[in-house]
Amino acid sequence: MQKLLAELAPAGPDYELARAIDPTRLPAHIAIIMDGNGRWAKNRHLPRVSGHRAGVQAVRTTVETSAQLGIEALTLYAFSMENWKRPRAEVETLWRLLRHYLGAELPTMMKHGIRFSAIGRVDALPAMVRGELDEVIRRTEHNDGLRLNLAINYGGRAEIVDAVKALLEDVRAGQAEIDEAAISARLYTAGMPDPDLLIRTSGEMRVSNFLLWQIAYAELYVTHTLWPDFTRAELLEAILDYQRRDRRFGGLGSPVPSGDAWMEPAGVRVR
Ligand code: FPP
Repeated sequence: MQKLLAELAPAGPDYELARAIDPTRLPAHIAIIMDGNGRWAKNRHLPRVSGHRAGVQAVRTTVETSAQLGIEALTLYAFSMENWKRPRAEVETLWRLLRHYLGAELPTMMKHGIRFSAIGRVDALPAMVRGELDEVIRRTEHNDGLRLNLAINYGGRAEIVDAVKALLEDVRAGQAEIDEAAISARLYTAGMPDPDLLIRTSGEMRVSNFLLWQIAYAELYVTHTLWPDFTRAELLEAILDYQRRDRRFGGLGSPVPSGDAWMEPAGVRVR
């Protein structure tokens, strides 16, 4: 948080927004469905790929601001398993942009101590993208700042299928039991907190097969802003909006006096 305030000019437009954020109640994990690149381009009579190109700047700003705020994890939905249905030229442009982004942003990742991961069925990606991904994963693996996950060739149901297959193997070997923690520990996001805040741009009210298991209790923030227009100010607004929410996790919001919560199962803390 201090890092962000130090970066912003006190008279600048984002400074007051950043100062209004309670640093003790930041979302530990923010997930974003970056949507609307195509519409952004269409509104300007440009080819769709121009929207993706413009979207890269919004990725940069979001990643850097999250690192400066002290967010623990940020997961960005870059390419879904369904996105292969798009024209080949568009898909290839996305790979080129991704490769260029990874190469160009490595110094920024090192500067902010960002640890990069790719989540999804990445083995199916073109070799040139996999090579660059592996390189950035390797170079950043000892960083201990923001965990940046890029969801690429990602599907939420496929992720659960992969986790269940891995769990069944361990169960058969007598090394695991089937419960929620055992599934969470075999997801691509194992070891990270579940997202507290899920942001979707472009106004669509869908979760689009994104982090289906992990967003069980996430707060949703949907904005009509198209992804290339998503600014630092809007990220800060989304966090402020999140901090105004009353998160109940199925309970009543305010803490339940002990003994008042009936049928509290053993080992389950009523919040
Ligand atoms: C959705 O917009 C966006 C995508 C499918 C890709 C996201 C890619 C980027 C932001 C750029 C490259 C990413 C990185 C990490 C360098 P859409 O095309 O579905 O928009 P539309 O719904 O308006 O058509």
